[in-house]
Amino acid sequence: MHLFSDSDKITSKFIETLTHPITPQNKDNLLVGVDLGTAYIVICVLDESKSPIAGAYQFAQVVKDGLLVDYMGALKIVKQLKKEIEDKIGCELKNAAVAIPPGTTINDTKYIKNVVEGAGFEVINVVDEPTAANAVLGILNGVVVDIGGGTTGLAIIEEGKIVSVADEATGGTQCTLVIAGTYKIPFEEAEYLKQNPEKQEEISGLLRPVAQKIATIIQKHTNKYNIDGIYLVGGTSCLLNIEKVIEKELNIKTFKPQNPHFVTPIGIAMNCVQSRNSVSHGH
Ligand SMILES: Nc1ncnc2c1ncn2[C@@H]1O[C@H](COP(=O)(O)OP(=O)(O)OP(=O)(O)O)[C@@H](O)[C@H]1O
Ligand SMILES: [Mg+2]
Repeated sequence: MHLFSDSDKITSKFIETLTHPITPQNKDNLLVGVDLGTAYIVICVLDESKSPIAGAYQFAQVVKDGLLVDYMGALKIVKQLKKEIEDKIGCELKNAAVAIPPGTTINDTKYIKNVVEGAGFEVINVVDEPTAANAVLGILNGVVVDIGGGTTGLAIIEEGKIVSVADEATGGTQCTLVIAGTYKIPFEEAEYLKQNPEKQEEISGLLRPVAQKIATIIQKHTNKYNIDGIYLVGGTSCLLNIEKVIEKELNIKTFKPQNPHFVTPIGIAMNCVQSRNSVSHGH
């Protein structure tokens, strides 16, 4: 079986439900994940068998380096996305799980919870991002690296258990700044150019140093472990050939699934279950 066959199936199903939502048979046990990211706010809804039924997302700059910088802005967007999905599937969303970058302090966790609860959810679990991602990937040994907008988070996994997590401030925003600087264009234009399918070769070359920096971050946090596989998720993993650059730098096999930007949000939803020891990192 292909390494990412489950992940690829679930992310492409999720994408389909963004435009073709499914009305759930059982409206009581929906699993909801709210990903309050640096670049995107994503809500993912799964039915009780963990199959995607709906979702919505919006580009938003309300979080910076894992820190909430625009409470009201975040609240407004989460409320809107929640309502949008509720209208589409014809029922109320109640419980939700949220995620935090590894090592987030308890205080920042509270802010994120406050936003999601302020928008009308009951937050029943808080997980860290790479742990959420691995709920989808199901890696048994290796390192899951979530390269998002603001940060690169990683979780080292041995025999299915997370043994170490870390988070550092390098990601897609830095890529966009490099493009903006190189072409002397505004940030928004650079963001657009970065994702232009026709420019991927050029962008990939230009951003090679950022990919190498990410490789250095992975190396720094994994060098005490015996890592035989690197698994990339997060929007910045969409960059053409980023897995090849990292593999070459570190000489460790590096893989990425399809639609890497939706792996973490779906994984958050999979963790929408009551948990007593939900926040285990950072103080
Ligand atoms: N096709 C693409 N090519 C390059 N970068 C992309 C592409 N698609 C999305 N990105 C980048 O991915 C980033 C967003 O990824 P993601 O949604 O995983 O981040 P986030 O969860 O909002 O941020 P973080 O996890 O750091 O808080 C943005 O910087 C965006 O520009
Ligand atoms: Mg993220």
